[in-house]
Amino acid sequence: MDFGDLQNEIYFRGLQGVVPKWPLTAAGLETAAEAAMPTSVWTYVAGGAGDERTQRGNVSAFARRGLVPRMLVGAAHRDLSVDLFGMHLPSPLFLAPVGVLGIAAQDGHGDLATARASAATGVPMIASTLSEDPLEAVRDAAGTTPGMFQLYTPTDRDLAASLVQRAGRAGFGALVVTLDTWVTGWRPRDLQIANFPQLRGAALANYLSDPVFRAAVPDAATDPRSVVEHWARVFGNPLTWDDLPWLRSLTDLPIVLKGICAADDARRAVDAGIDGVYVSNHGGRQANGGVPALDLLPDVVSAVGDDVPVLFDSGVRSGSDVVTALAMGASAVGLGRPYVHGLALGGAAGVEHVVRAVLAEADLLMAVNGFPDVAALRSADVRTVDA
Ligand code: FNR
Repeated sequence: MDFGDLQNEIYFRGLQGVVPKWPLTAAGLETAAEAAMPTSVWTYVAGGAGDERTQRGNVSAFARRGLVPRMLVGAAHRDLSVDLFGMHLPSPLFLAPVGVLGIAAQDGHGDLATARASAATGVPMIASTLSEDPLEAVRDAAGTTPGMFQLYTPTDRDLAASLVQRAGRAGFGALVVTLDTWVTGWRPRDLQIANFPQLRGAALANYLSDPVFRAAVPDAATDPRSVVEHWARVFGNPLTWDDLPWLRSLTDLPIVLKGICAADDARRAVDAGIDGVYVSNHGGRQANGGVPALDLLPDVVSAVGDDVPVLFDSGVRSGSDVVTALAMGASAVGLGRPYVHGLALGGAAGVEHVVRAVLAEADLLMAVNGFPDVAALRSADVRTVDA
């Protein structure tokens, strides 16, 4: 089986008059998802920082890169598998952490639905700290597909330790520490409707299920406001390099730093014993006016060499974007908003639809362009083109 076999599956089903239920392009998914989502959730998912030029730049950066095809390779079957932090994965695709998955799904349990799609596809999910269901339940719903836990490091160190230890006990395979979101970026779309989901009590299950958090909010059951107020006090820790030894002391899990975009930071992180770096500008949701994440990927890849894996997200909208990011040196590539759109449309089945379409396109592109595996792709000739 190749991921690209989805193509024949679709065409053959068409002979019985069946066409795909949901759109196959990122733009089509976005339009359909907007119609399916409540305005407040849509605004939170779609919006970014400032005038969103960095958010748009992340996407358009992919249009400025092109692969030189290779012929007579005979890539009749493609092997997209990769090894990442001891996890053997069928492809280099992963689901980026998204904190409002719960409310993005029609049944209010989108974290579990995403985990079930992860179980069905073998594509790992990075489960966010901000979740509508506790991390243990999310991990269980992913079945035998490995996953990672994303930490928003609280200022309360005991709470941080508790969350990290829970993630380890639950069976996550790595800890992804997000560095760029200890304070929320200026997001005019959300500000205009004065809506921030967490302050309305959304996505706080990991806190409410945590003994350290609960001990600090004894009236949680009767006074939901005290929960939100305490959460707002402890949520964001402006970490420094001096905090890395403490983070390391919390767990034996591989630690990945998300939001590293500067080559010097990447090198310093590796020298400090970090197990992976994750190039991302949070999809342009945090800081506007920056450089598209894709443009910074090669610098980080050369600073890190083969020392640790380099994960990447921000602007990935298709299988061809996945292939481009791999060819530019990423070890694994994260899908963000497009799978949230699938989730809003069809729950677990909607996420699975998006993931399978992205993987099919990536696989067929590798077939056509003569790249039988990810290693071949990583030595591909990538050119800059006029968008
Ligand atoms: C995010 N992202 C994110 N990142 C993270 O580390 N923890 C989180 O809880 C969230 N939450 C979140 C919510 C929403 C609605 C979005 C869209 C994104 C960032 C995410 O992991 C990833 O970096 C971006 O989604 C990549 O940008 P694109 O490709 O989705 O535009």
